[in-house]
Amino acid sequence: MPTTSAIELKKALFRGRDWITTQEWTDAEIEVLLDVSADLKRKFRGRIPHRYLPDETLFLMFFDKSTRTRNSFEAGMTQLGGHAHFLTADAMQVSHGESPKDTGIILSSYGHGIAIRHDLIPGEGNAYMREVAQWASVPVINMQCDVDHPCQTLADLMTIREMRGRNLRGLKVAVSWAYAPSYAKPLSVPQGLIMLLPRFGMDVMLAHPPEYRLMPETLSAAHENARRGGGSFREVPGMDEAFLHADVVVPKSWGCLESMGSNPAESLRIAKQYTDWICDTDLMKLARPDVLYMHPLPADRGNEVTDEVIDGANSVVYAEAENRLHTAKAILALTMADAAVEYEAHA
Ligand code: CP
Repeated sequence: MPTTSAIELKKALFRGRDWITTQEWTDAEIEVLLDVSADLKRKFRGRIPHRYLPDETLFLMFFDKSTRTRNSFEAGMTQLGGHAHFLTADAMQVSHGESPKDTGIILSSYGHGIAIRHDLIPGEGNAYMREVAQWASVPVINMQCDVDHPCQTLADLMTIREMRGRNLRGLKVAVSWAYAPSYAKPLSVPQGLIMLLPRFGMDVMLAHPPEYRLMPETLSAAHENARRGGGSFREVPGMDEAFLHADVVVPKSWGCLESMGSNPAESLRIAKQYTDWICDTDLMKLARPDVLYMHPLPADRGNEVTDEVIDGANSVVYAEAENRLHTAKAILALTMADAAVEYEAHA
């Protein structure tokens, strides 16, 4: 566990930082976030008060739906002693064209942080939040954009470490597309995973049908991060190749990069050719017997994954979802903390 003085020091270093992609945070900084997440998890479970953001306000701007992200951020802000305002873009003047600049400046003058989910249109969400961040005087937190879902991937890394220890070198991870008819899901979870996990020494395999390619810049980042972090990154043609001897599998659906923004129905139409891309018990047998089945949720049960797998002994989806709370709180506590807050007073 981090010492109080270590957290105080890091809080000072991280105060005011934006959390837009994991690419802008060093490995050492991510280690601190994970340590603080573990500390906050222990305090939450032990009912130990941890009001590190008393009277602080976080604005949550959603351009898309959410269960885990909205509720982990709202509950997290309450537990940290502050308050989160839930805002939907369609009920804001954003829907009448108000600029990211004006939104960033005005919300900054009312509170202490701005968190944004804008994930469905390739080329838009990340650019939007970076423009808000350029003008905001408070931290801007990415609750999922078109490029990355850094809150999810941080929680995933925390979950893998809880289950497999801190040394993840050589752990084989399969990130695979899977069939889902419900909606064209963003690309940011697989993109975020392939960028983050090789930094911590993991060997990541990516599989998807040809129409479901990821953003080229995220593939380049994955290769570069693998080179620097001692892990590896490789694309393989199918789920079988990715799952073979895997230690961790993350099979989930996403949309087509080219048509996702303009015509999301096209992603679902094309997907009908690939209904056999499902994670079932036969596929799981290719992986190691103790393989971790992960999914950020919501899952399309019966399509992306069978009930037998997601409810089975290898599934860690609820631990993964719970860690969204603790990691979100660590990001908020470290970036939003006011200089006057004394960690010791509440430890
Ligand atoms: N995993 C995730 O981001 O869930 P929500 O879409 O429910 O927030």
